[in-house]
Amino acid sequence: CGIVGIVGKHQAAPILVDGLRRLEYRGYDSAGIATVDASTGAGRLDRRRALGKLVNLADLLVHEPLTGTSGIGHTRWATHGAATTVNAHPHARGRVAVVHNGIIENYRSLREELAAHQIVPETQTDTETVAMLCNWFLDQGHSAEEAAKATIAKLEGAYALAFLFEGQVDLMIAARKGSPLAVGWGDGEMFIGSDALALASMTSEVTYLEEGDIAVLTRAGATFYTAEGETVERARKTVEIDINSVDKGGYKHFMAKEIAEQPRVLSAAADYYLGGRDTADRMGRELLESIDFSNVDRLVMVACGTAALACHTAKYWFEQIARLPVEVDIASEYRYREPPLSDRTVALFVSQSGETADTLAALRYCAGKARKIVSVVNVATSSIARESDVALPILAGTEIGVASTKAFTCQLTVLATMAITAARQRGHLDAAAETKLCEQLMAVPRLVGQALTCEEEVKKIASHLGHVSDALFLGRGAMYPLALEGALKLKEISYIHAEGYASGELKHGPIALVDDKLPVVVLAPSDALFDKSVSNMQEVMARGGKIIMVSDQAGLSEGGEGVWKTIEMPTIEGPFAAITYAVPMQLLSYHTAIEKGTDVDQPRNLAKSVTVE
Ligand code: G6P
Repeated sequence: CGIVGIVGKHQAAPILVDGLRRLEYRGYDSAGIATVDASTGAGRLDRRRALGKLVNLADLLVHEPLTGTSGIGHTRWATHGAATTVNAHPHARGRVAVVHNGIIENYRSLREELAAHQIVPETQTDTETVAMLCNWFLDQGHSAEEAAKATIAKLEGAYALAFLFEGQVDLMIAARKGSPLAVGWGDGEMFIGSDALALASMTSEVTYLEEGDIAVLTRAGATFYTAEGETVERARKTVEIDINSVDKGGYKHFMAKEIAEQPRVLSAAADYYLGGRDTADRMGRELLESIDFSNVDRLVMVACGTAALACHTAKYWFEQIARLPVEVDIASEYRYREPPLSDRTVALFVSQSGETADTLAALRYCAGKARKIVSVVNVATSSIARESDVALPILAGTEIGVASTKAFTCQLTVLATMAITAARQRGHLDAAAETKLCEQLMAVPRLVGQALTCEEEVKKIASHLGHVSDALFLGRGAMYPLALEGALKLKEISYIHAEGYASGELKHGPIALVDDKLPVVVLAPSDALFDKSVSNMQEVMARGGKIIMVSDQAGLSEGGEGVWKTIEMPTIEGPFAAITYAVPMQLLSYHTAIEKGTDVDQPRNLAKSVTVE
């Protein structure tokens, strides 16, 4: 979910909607705003909420405008309670309105306490309990600030919260535990937002709340309190956010724009870590060197979704090139396993947003146990970056499309530079071999550019794929995680059931699914594993399966006989072919989604950044 708030001097509603637009990537099940309006004398608290995307709220506001200079806004990714207007934020009870990101874990017991006072819920949400509780404290004669603080003290779970009060135009209370929240500094007005992006058009001066912090905002400024109630100073930072990056730049979808941007952003990422021509380039190198893999016995990589698949791919590089044992886990499973960690383990967290709650929780589990906490992030100001010993930016630029594309390939590029560095530091790479690997990685942006020319062929294939109900993706070696990514992409945006398998595993079960309706995408560059991949392809074709073979010219002419469709990739030397082969996976899902008419950039039920566990 995304939160934005203003204690201001201008009409708040349009500014809140603008802020929410930049936060829609955090959820779009519903949106809502509440304002407190001094012009009515009493400081009336009122709200508007609409189901579905933000545009519905914007339409509602045209017919039923909301006045007032202070307000809070929310865009929701449903957790407790269905996506309905009643369950949409802000939640209001009596004299208080609340927006919340996170999960209040003890809301049932709080509800029971309130029921004893004949206060009963009107929604299915955990958040409403916060408003009920706060209003009860107000009814007991507490001031707004006291009531909010007393409420916060009773909450368990994770939250970023903002409270707005009837009759209090010059007050907002915000709190953070587990979910990110930033305070923005204006001139005679103050803001809050889930991230600096939400505040981009309002201010570039922000203060990130620390765990347990409460902020009391008035137009004149903010006072910060720790969880223990002590006042505390929190640093003010200037953040640079390019608001133009939130623009489709002539493309039909953000996803299409982000796919096309890859040669440029990959080249920036490779240059930053492997170049050496200017200061910025050296900074990338220094970051890599500072990890120091020389005396490390294990690398643990933890992430979610597409970022986890980047880790699975990079495992092949770290093990083969740097001879470093790697363990990869998805973040939601990791910490509850209570895995042992030694001080010779490097723990690495990969996250586009840097805010994924599962990944952040796994990072905190490792802090103090592992030798070093390293992260690979796209948002340099994110919680994960801030809590790492070394944070490596992937330099992909803002990624808006929910299905990750350029962030994935940039993550792979950065992880590859890390594997090369680790290999040298561990004495497994002489200078000539290192130069060769670096050249092969530096060639990737150009190869990705060439791979993009397969789009016309992919479109034709997508015109068929748009009508199937299932698909399989197969790959060997580093192409195996990429097969998983191809299947994930297709599921995410076209809602077609797809599964990725290691080519060799097919015969141990999934081959039972093969018939003449099942498309099977096979990622098979002509590398050392090519012959084995071709054998697995034959097993599918012998049972009538329709193969879509993705390979280079040599591979297609050697093994392409009898396949249903082909997608040609450039010829690639060295271990990093998976980065280039990501392109046809992205294009295939994109054009299949177009064929099906689904919402490419904001697929149903998903959110780009999931800040609840
Ligand atoms: C969400 C998104 C996925 C993404 C995952 C991890 O589930 O829908 O596309 O891969 O989160 O996000 P992160 O920001 O940590 O990379």
